[in-house]
Amino acid sequence: MDRRRFLNLAAATGATTALGTLAAAGLAANTALIARTIPSSGKSVPILGMGTWITFNVGKSKSLRTKRLEVLKAFFEGGGGMIDSSPMYGTSEEVVGYCLERLPPQEKLFTATKVWTVSKQMGIRQMETSQSLWGHKTFDLMQIHNLVDWEVHMETLNTWKSDGRIKHTGITTSHGRRHDEFEKIARNNTFDFAQFTYNVEDREAENRLLPMAADLGIGVIINRPFQRGALIKKLQGKPLPPWAPEIGVRSWPQFLLKFVISHPAVTCAIPATSNPEHMVENLEAGRDALPDPQMRSRMAAYVQSL
Ligand SMILES: NC(=O)c1ccc[n+]([C@@H]2O[C@H](COP(=O)([O-])OP(=O)(O)OC[C@H]3O[C@@H](n4cnc5c(N)ncnc54)[C@H](OP(=O)(O)O)[C@@H]3O)[C@@H](O)[C@H]2O)c1
Repeated sequence: MDRRRFLNLAAATGATTALGTLAAAGLAANTALIARTIPSSGKSVPILGMGTWITFNVGKSKSLRTKRLEVLKAFFEGGGGMIDSSPMYGTSEEVVGYCLERLPPQEKLFTATKVWTVSKQMGIRQMETSQSLWGHKTFDLMQIHNLVDWEVHMETLNTWKSDGRIKHTGITTSHGRRHDEFEKIARNNTFDFAQFTYNVEDREAENRLLPMAADLGIGVIINRPFQRGALIKKLQGKPLPPWAPEIGVRSWPQFLLKFVISHPAVTCAIPATSNPEHMVENLEAGRDALPDPQMRSRMAAYVQSL
């Protein structure tokens, strides 16, 4: 994407405040997380959320649940908002509900889960189960997981939205899978959010999905910003570029997140972690200035050169 198009997208999605003005104002770390506007509703959401696949699938273990409670505390204390889960993630929704019940009500909480089954009735039953597991009667976002039986669920989601049982609708995919079909569905129907994979190595979404979302006013949630942790493992031990401090980066996870969230079409990224210290480290990436298009190219080229 060229610089002009990038800046047009930035203006269209309210991302310009992130593009250097915070730095210009001299704001340091530990300021509030950058927020982005959801195009369809105008509601704002912190630019970093939290995924729960594997990391919150800890079953009944008291000690593991207590550790996840610490992760969630760090998340909210650091200004996080969106929690993304799914019935596909084993006990994750139940564990999220367990943790939320033990925390005071959180003003910024943005509840996002998915429907992942076939048939209208099974979908309704699954979403009702999610309501009870989370302890929430309404969801901020209900997504159709990996396009499964999407035509059927889309109708239900639209009905639930009119009834006020969900506030936004969405559809998801991951890992560059089925992008053509995903694009066709998103273009020909109405969804508030699209969720897919994007990171410094998996950049296919830059070609079609990200520009499409910006053009159509669809909010974008980015999953797998660390490629399930593989990117961090690959880069740990390698030197950060000498110019990392210029973009407020002190670690590889922060570098990877800054790259993802600085794309102007991105509303929110949802890195997952089981470690409260990692949560604190990750949230730092969403505070001060974000890289401009030139710097983003430099970041990608640097990773490629390693
Ligand atoms: N189709 C879909 O709808 C779909 C598909 C894929 C994912 N998702 C969503 O997207 C979320 C994120 O994707 P993901 O969970 O696959 O992978 P990810 O967020 O790319 O990576 C998670 C891994 O990164 C590690 N990590 C996080 N912060 C770290 C840090 N500061 N230092 C070192 N390691 C760190 C975590 O280990 P530690 O626990 O040790 O921190 C974990 O193993 C999922 O949890 C899920 O909610 C949705």
